[in-house]
Amino acid sequence: MYQTPSLGRSDDSAVDSSSVPGTPSDMSMFAQAYSIPADSMDMGALPERVGTPQPSRHHIALPDILHPETASSVPIRTICCIGAGYVGGPTAAVIALHNPHIRVVVVDRDQRRIDAWKSRHLPIHEPGLEDVVRIARDGAAETRRRGDSPTRHTMDAARQPNLFFSTACIETIEVADMCLISVNTPTKTRGVGAGRATDMAALEGACRDIAMHAKAGCILVEKSTVPCKTGQLIKDIMEAHRPGVVFPVLSNPEFLSEGTAIRDLMQPDRVVIGCESTISGHRAAAALANLYAAWVPRSRIAPIGIWSSELCKLAANAMLAQRISSINSISAICERTDADVGEIAKSIGLDPRIGPQFLKAGLGFGGSCFRKDIASLTYLAESLGLPEVAAYWQQVLTMNDFQRDRFAGHVIATLNNSLRGKKVAILGYAFKKNTGDARESPALDVIRILLEEGPKSITIYDPLCSEADIKRELSVLERDYAVSMPDGPVEVVPDPYAACGNSNAVLILTDWDMFKNGKPVTQSSKPVTIAETYDGATPTDVLHLTPRIERVTINKPPTPPRTPKLSPLAPELNTRLLPEPPCPADCVVCRSSSSAGMSVETDTTTPIDWAHISKTVREPRWVFDGRGVLDARAMVGMGFRLETLGRASMY
Ligand code: NAD
Ligand code: UGA
Repeated sequence: MYQTPSLGRSDDSAVDSSSVPGTPSDMSMFAQAYSIPADSMDMGALPERVGTPQPSRHHIALPDILHPETASSVPIRTICCIGAGYVGGPTAAVIALHNPHIRVVVVDRDQRRIDAWKSRHLPIHEPGLEDVVRIARDGAAETRRRGDSPTRHTMDAARQPNLFFSTACIETIEVADMCLISVNTPTKTRGVGAGRATDMAALEGACRDIAMHAKAGCILVEKSTVPCKTGQLIKDIMEAHRPGVVFPVLSNPEFLSEGTAIRDLMQPDRVVIGCESTISGHRAAAALANLYAAWVPRSRIAPIGIWSSELCKLAANAMLAQRISSINSISAICERTDADVGEIAKSIGLDPRIGPQFLKAGLGFGGSCFRKDIASLTYLAESLGLPEVAAYWQQVLTMNDFQRDRFAGHVIATLNNSLRGKKVAILGYAFKKNTGDARESPALDVIRILLEEGPKSITIYDPLCSEADIKRELSVLERDYAVSMPDGPVEVVPDPYAACGNSNAVLILTDWDMFKNGKPVTQSSKPVTIAETYDGATPTDVLHLTPRIERVTINKPPTPPRTPKLSPLAPELNTRLLPEPPCPADCVVCRSSSSAGMSVETDTTTPIDWAHISKTVREPRWVFDGRGVLDARAMVGMGFRLETLGRASMY
């Protein structure tokens, strides 16, 4: 069970404990306290206390204190982002891109991850990420604009690098004005609450480092997804190590999705900032809001109470996952009634109250967050004495498991209840398209079930997941029997045709565009570049759009160059940017065929040749589409027998 936050803390100079909820029943009272008396705003040296709200007094609403004209924020010069993962790396990079005057240092204990961030081969694949990192990490030279007249030209000022990656966690924390905590918060695997409660070890470790080494007043920002009331836990850790020192704690949950992280960060629907109702809390929130305001319209920056902010992240993921389980439950009915779940999703999605998003039926949701966040929510509900609420959300997970079990079971049943001597081809391992993240993929569960039937081979192809990552994920199955070749049946291959050749069944487990039937890929489904995240900008324009890259107009002939710093005409982004760090001569990534460096994108959109595959698979040419990406008529026309979740068999 989650521990009830402590009451009567010694740190009441920061927050009056009477306003901190100790039990859920205190929540409503606390909610009223998100404002501070108007007459206290200009008293500068006011104590940090905010007492029980005084209903009759005039209050300034919290949003007002984030307004640039009324905000009194803390100056931020150096940010330490703890955790260089899928959230920490891209988020820090985008903050650095838009705040060139601020030094942003991403730290991680994982030396290999940091080395990768510092190299040409970033540790994660996200469309557009390379551009952002190149600009912020490597900087740009002063450059003359192309197309100017001989007598008038425009210079773009140099940009100094302001994004750094390091394993020197302590040294970086020591000088930081703000620490973004972006560490992993997985589900506990053992002990109390195993399988549901959040494992807070990484977060606690990061907070301890901050508590012991940060400057007084350093702002702590929860970017990780955490159980509601974690802010109190953080304050308790700080108080235990540095009694009496104020460290404002903010909740700033991240809503990015993998595969579209840069677009999501560049154009967020909302930036939620949860803060305590204290002056230091408000000033800290204003400081964070100012960072985002460098590129996010202030109307999209939503200040709320810290507990609401923590809970809204869990609620958002739970609601998204719930929609997927809802449509998947309908898909099971469709298969038994000849209805088509795609047609149903389209029809109900036209109702603006429902909307079309997250209604794609399939194998169910994977990824590192939905499952763990719903598990955390059910655990929280149970801890608060709300078993009905816990059961409600648990059912979302149950339905998700049901969908995978159903799919794998159907494959086995169709292949005459035995996979002995048979080859199964798996197209796609990633939990969704446009990411190389192999964690928590539905493919793992499907493979686990198939392995029970003793197949001769399972051959996996994924355009972005590395063989090493897939094998690491599969290694959890090795407890029961040998999985990977040469001792086991599973092999990861670098090409879809090798995977499918001679197979008894082809399974589509990721919705990669390349697995769709030969329709040309539309522009909108291609990976974004950073330039596309700004309306109509060219890659070069992106540098101009970033703040504080100044344009200097010089009304003199450009030749001879007026200063030695003048660089040759540099029309493209890459020529303006300072060079990437060099790779060692024996760089394994450069040598591997799957990754040739930052500037080379793996082609994930050119459709595979299903007509060719139809000639190489075994009769009766079974294809099981777990993601609803295939055109049934086209596939049947090529002689395949196609099974799709949510549709009656068609062949
Ligand atoms: P991740 O595992 O990719 O990265 C976390 C990193 O933190 C790891 O590299 C780890 O080595 C490092 N770390 C842990 N403790 C540390 C410490 N004390 N000091 C220094 N480094 C430390 O995780 P992620 O996917 O980036 O997720 C991070 C958080 O963000 C989680 O809470 C997750 O729920 C949330 N989140 C993730 C996504 C997503 O798309 N992945 C989206 C929104 C929110
Ligand atoms: C999700 C949320 O969308 C983000 O807002 C959130 O920040 C993030 O989790 C997080 O907290 O980690 P992500 O997991 O990256 O992002 O990807 P989604 O696009 O949400 O897809 C999750 C899973 O649901 C995938 O396996 C996907 O294939 C599946 N899905 C999605 C469906 O089965 N059907 C759909 O209609 C949509």
